[in-house]
Amino acid sequence: MLKQAVKTAKVRTPVKERAFIVKGGNPLRGEVILNGAKNAATKQLVAALLADEPVVLHNVPKIGDVTATIEMLEGLGVGIKVDGHTVTIDPRTLNTSQVSAALSRKNRIPILLMGPLIHRFGEASIPSLGGCQIGPRPIDIHLEGLKQMGAEISEGDGYYKAKSKKLKAALIELRFPSVGATENLMLAAVKAKGTTVITNAAVEPEILDTAKLLQSMGAIINLETNRTWVIEGVDRLGGAEHSVIPDRIEAASFGIAAALTKGEIFVRHAKQDDLLTFLNAIRRVGVPFKVEEDGILFGHADEYRPVTLETDTHPGFMTDWQQPFVMLLTQAKGVSIVHETIFEDRFGYTESLVKMGANIQLHSDCLGSKECRFKHKNFLHSCIISGSTPLKSAEICIPDLRAGFSYLLAALMAKGESRVTGVELIERGYEDIIGKLKKLGAEIDAE
Ligand code: UD1
Repeated sequence: MLKQAVKTAKVRTPVKERAFIVKGGNPLRGEVILNGAKNAATKQLVAALLADEPVVLHNVPKIGDVTATIEMLEGLGVGIKVDGHTVTIDPRTLNTSQVSAALSRKNRIPILLMGPLIHRFGEASIPSLGGCQIGPRPIDIHLEGLKQMGAEISEGDGYYKAKSKKLKAALIELRFPSVGATENLMLAAVKAKGTTVITNAAVEPEILDTAKLLQSMGAIINLETNRTWVIEGVDRLGGAEHSVIPDRIEAASFGIAAALTKGEIFVRHAKQDDLLTFLNAIRRVGVPFKVEEDGILFGHADEYRPVTLETDTHPGFMTDWQQPFVMLLTQAKGVSIVHETIFEDRFGYTESLVKMGANIQLHSDCLGSKECRFKHKNFLHSCIISGSTPLKSAEICIPDLRAGFSYLLAALMAKGESRVTGVELIERGYEDIIGKLKKLGAEIDAE
């Protein structure tokens, strides 16, 4: 019954059949309570498989990606009990190293099962990945690291197959600080033989949160200077109880919603530590905010200033903040530049915003202060936004999760009624989005 509650986020109808109808123009006012971070909770559900006792996770969001991860783990025989936002994972009944293709194409979590399954069975078979279409999203860095740790990996028929009697420690320098690869290698290293050092690694707060869970389970894991994780392998990990950090992407999304709809939103549980770069950026634009004891109050101004910004790995400006931020810049007076340096194809969503009245041009050059990996590769990874331009309502189809919230923002600002389809993509990452927006005064309904 309670488990059923989490499963409400499950997609039941094909893409484009469901829609949100949004009547724009209302200022959003009030309080929103942040849920746990998708990018931490989903990884932690997988990390629990490394234990030989149940692991209890609190503050797990009721979102599509969590449901998909739970279903995938249940398909492997793992016992899962959901009670509101608390999920208990019992890995003792895990009974197969073969991940079902039917249950794993919805997101990019399955590849993280490599380490836990190899530790348990000496092998893993994992289907190729799903997730947002924002570039080719290879997993070469994951696989190279696992190979260094002694895994024999082959690829064919839509599956990655890995084998190793016992993973061993390695000195691994990542070519790029990939979030997923860092997590994958961390999950492999905690029970490998010896001390693994991962340099040029990602250090996002969600990874740190997962490291904290692993430490509570018995791992010896240290974050050193210069993006370096040092992990001493241990023989066994046990049960633990952990609370997932609040979602800093959701926090930024609602902060910008306040600024754009000319409202005021108190985002409860928003943490200044995890939003430092974001808060600096919106301050430059002119969005007022006030850090309070258990959250941040975001307001609005009559006019916003243009800025130049580039996305980066943590502690830089997060790529998942880019889409709502571009929306904000459509309302800044003057010319802004945003250079996306993490994903090569993350501006496709702007096409619909242009149809709604935004003035956005895409460029393949590295615009801004630094060059990135995508230089001379013809990816449209920089954009120039000229504002401010009023937006008109439209029929728009969401292309990916984070762009989805931007489209909602556009619809909430635009005069008239917009129809937004592809909404299950938003539901992959935002819990009860309609309920939250309605509570803030939005006119939004599911069709
Ligand atoms: C995670 C987040 C996503 C966020 C991203 C960057 C989850 C579920 N998703 O995605 O919300 O936008 O971090 O902060 O946590 N790359 C390679 N080879 C690899 C791995 C990655 O070339 O083996 C490239 C990717 O194509 C991309 C860049 O590295 O260009 C960043 O990817 P990565 O940090 O791995 O992102 P994800 O873990 O997929």
